[in-house]
Amino acid sequence: MEKLDQRIQLVASSEFSKIIDAWRRKQSDLPSRSEAIRRLVQSGLKYEKEHPMHMITAIIRPHKYEEVREALLKLGVEGITVAQVQGFGRQRGQTEFYRGAEYKTAEVPKVRLEIAVAQGLLSEVIEAVQSIAATGKVGDGKLFVHSLDQVMRIRTGERDEKALS
Ligand SMILES: Nc1ncnc2c1ncn2[C@@H]1O[C@H](COP(=O)(O)OP(=O)(O)OP(=O)(O)O)[C@@H](O)[C@H]1O
Ligand SMILES: [Mg+2]
Repeated sequence: MEKLDQRIQLVASSEFSKIIDAWRRKQSDLPSRSEAIRRLVQSGLKYEKEHPMHMITAIIRPHKYEEVREALLKLGVEGITVAQVQGFGRQRGQTEFYRGAEYKTAEVPKVRLEIAVAQGLLSEVIEAVQSIAATGKVGDGKLFVHSLDQVMRIRTGERDEKALS
């Protein structure tokens, strides 16, 4: 049995406590708050270990591309795949350039970025894209995060995180 001999002080918001309590109540053995936090940290660490790489697909407004690109390079992203695409979201392209009386679904030009990152960069990249690409108007885009199983640098045959750095 693990020895619990380290006392760690923790100050949290009431929102955090509520989330912890809601999680505790869903467990069959109703763990204490401390035990709940221990378990959640363990499962977060396990998740990170099992998902060390992610592919981020970001659909953004074309005029935001340059700024997003600069920010990602500064963060240390080693590559980006970019494509001009067309799409629509829940307004079906309408409010973005609505002209006529008829409501037709209209594809709107967007830029799609694909960025493969190791764990250390994931949240920074997501936050950078959001903070730069958001204007607050409908049509700002979407960001999808997928777990990435394997990566290879074709020239060298290097795999996974080595192939990302
Ligand atoms: N569910 C989806 N699946 C795939 N692509 C999507 C989806 N939703 C949006 N997209 C892509 O993202 C682009 C921008 O979507 P948009 O920002 O309009 O999403 P939204 O959900 O309608 O949000 P908002 O209400 O802010 O407009 C679309 O043109 C499309 O390319
Ligand atoms: Mg929309």
